[in-house]
Amino acid sequence: MKPILVTGGAGYIGSHVCKALALAGYLPVAFDSLEMGHAWAVRWGPLERGNILDRARLDAAFAAHRPHAVVHCAAYAYVAESVADPGRYIRNNVAGTLTLLEAMRDNGVPDLVFSSSCATYGEPQTVPIPESAPQNPVNPYGRSKLMSEQMFPAFAAVHGLRWASLRYFNAAGADPQGEIGEEHDPETHLLPLVLDAASGRRPAITVFGTDHATPDGTCVRDYVHVADLASAHVAALGALAAQGTLGAFNLGNETGHSVRQVIDTVSAVTGRDVPVVLGERRQGDPPVLIADSTRARNELAWRPRFPELADMVRTAWAWHRRYGSGTAGNCEELK
Ligand code: UFG
Repeated sequence: MKPILVTGGAGYIGSHVCKALALAGYLPVAFDSLEMGHAWAVRWGPLERGNILDRARLDAAFAAHRPHAVVHCAAYAYVAESVADPGRYIRNNVAGTLTLLEAMRDNGVPDLVFSSSCATYGEPQTVPIPESAPQNPVNPYGRSKLMSEQMFPAFAAVHGLRWASLRYFNAAGADPQGEIGEEHDPETHLLPLVLDAASGRRPAITVFGTDHATPDGTCVRDYVHVADLASAHVAALGALAAQGTLGAFNLGNETGHSVRQVIDTVSAVTGRDVPVVLGERRQGDPPVLIADSTRARNELAWRPRFPELADMVRTAWAWHRRYGSGTAGNCEELK
């Protein structure tokens, strides 16, 4: 089995990537500080505990496992926190990526699949958004992802890096077999918060703005199942090995759902009322973000298996009911 180093492999997306890699016959080696990730989410290969800023720990992991490639998911990803403390995001996400690139160079590992984001586009001028759209991030989180992407061509030209950057739209859902799922602390993402409101764990979901330029006034996003994001990483690794540098790919379902539609879908799937509070707009929220994922479909043969929002809600709800947000770490079954 070819070992693949997955930074952030104990996190929400990274752990689903590890599972997809294992099912495809790779050995995923999770490299994770466990600052945000969870040891219980590492189930398909070894866990190397370390920070991507720690060159010695990276070198030790490369020496111990001799990975063929790196999937780089480790990052801080709270937009509001990045606005309040940009240096924290630049250090961790950008300097961390640089440290990783140099470790890959010096350990002779050429292939990188990078977790990027639609946040690199900022306020889009055209929707759906193609990869060629201008990248003008409106917050330091998006900026940190863009700055990371911008390092790759120079490392490719001089050091032989071969890279693919996967720009995720809104990740949602949980492992369809219920083995892993989303658990952030604090949780800021819409779907898990709506599920909390449905289950009574939170009193209500606050809708951030009802006067956006959208059909129902609430923000529209392109939700994409985390298992489908994971499968795109496996496809990108195979294509990188075969063809070399691939560039950037948008990963979304090319369909928009409003906040109200997400809430209605949660009500329909769970059979529960969702208490709603109508609130103010959140600063920096673009009204509509929808992917043009033609490139991923054509060049990675990427076919989402769970394109329906109801499937994302169903799998997330199954995970939520089993472990609840904030409780998976206490669960004996996952230890
Ligand atoms: N929202 C609410 N109430 C909430 C939380 C969110 O109405 O309590 C709305 C937001 O305004 C937004 C939508 O639900 O319109 C989705 O919000 P999320 O916070 O779940 O996700 P974002 O669209 O803000 O995601 C962004 C970028 C991603 C990036 C991610 C980082 O689109 O590219 O932040 O976590 F990766």
